Amino acid sequence: MSDANSLAMYANNRKIADNLRDEFPYPYTLHDARTWLEFALGGNQNLLFAIEVDSKAVGGIGLIHKTDVYRKSAEIGYWLGEPYWYKGIMTESINFLVKHTFAHTEIIRIYAGVFENNIASARVLTKCGFKLESVHHQAIIKNGKIMNELIYSNLK
Ligand SMILES: CC(C)(COP(=O)(O)OP(=O)(O)OC[C@H]1O[C@@H](n2cnc3c(N)ncnc32)[C@H](O)[C@@H]1OP(=O)(O)O)[C@@H](O)C(=O)NCCC(=O)NCCS
Repeated sequence: MSDANSLAMYANNRKIADNLRDEFPYPYTLHDARTWLEFALGGNQNLLFAIEVDSKAVGGIGLIHKTDVYRKSAEIGYWLGEPYWYKGIMTESINFLVKHTFAHTEIIRIYAGVFENNIASARVLTKCGFKLESVHHQAIIKNGKIMNELIYSNLK
């Protein structure tokens, strides 16, 4: 919970929120950070981590385990504070989480849903061994604009 202030400060950025679901709001408040931390610490089987740089929580990465017939799949999501972009931090973070998940859980497929205009995220996933699996046409409405969603996956 002591990470909440730092997370809220770095998350409060329209350039980040524009690439994420509306559940990651802009403005992003201390209350939003605390809600996310409560979920992360909530004892479910999802794996949610803050990304720490120089002893500060400056981003987040998480895996949501799917259920029912999808229970061998997990969805990955992530964001990083803008001052830390382009330093390879998310490449390292995703590689860590994928390796950890395939080594220590029953998950065999990790996937991400990327808005079609998010070149940065597509590049990071490709660097981490994810392949473009499918395009969900007109699946998203973000800021009033209809967009395709690109599904990238990494198989064990
Ligand atoms: C996507 C994001 C996590 C990338 O984090 P990062 O730590 O800067 O990424 P890395 O430094 O590991 O970069 C990996 C590659 O992506 C490229 N890249 C990063 N940001 C880029 C951008 N804005 N435009 C084009 N390429 C970009 C890097 O150059 C690097 O490729 P290279 O090695 O060929 O040069 C970060 O930009 C972010 O938080 N964006 C907003 C939230 C978001 O989009 N989340 C994902 C939703 S699916």
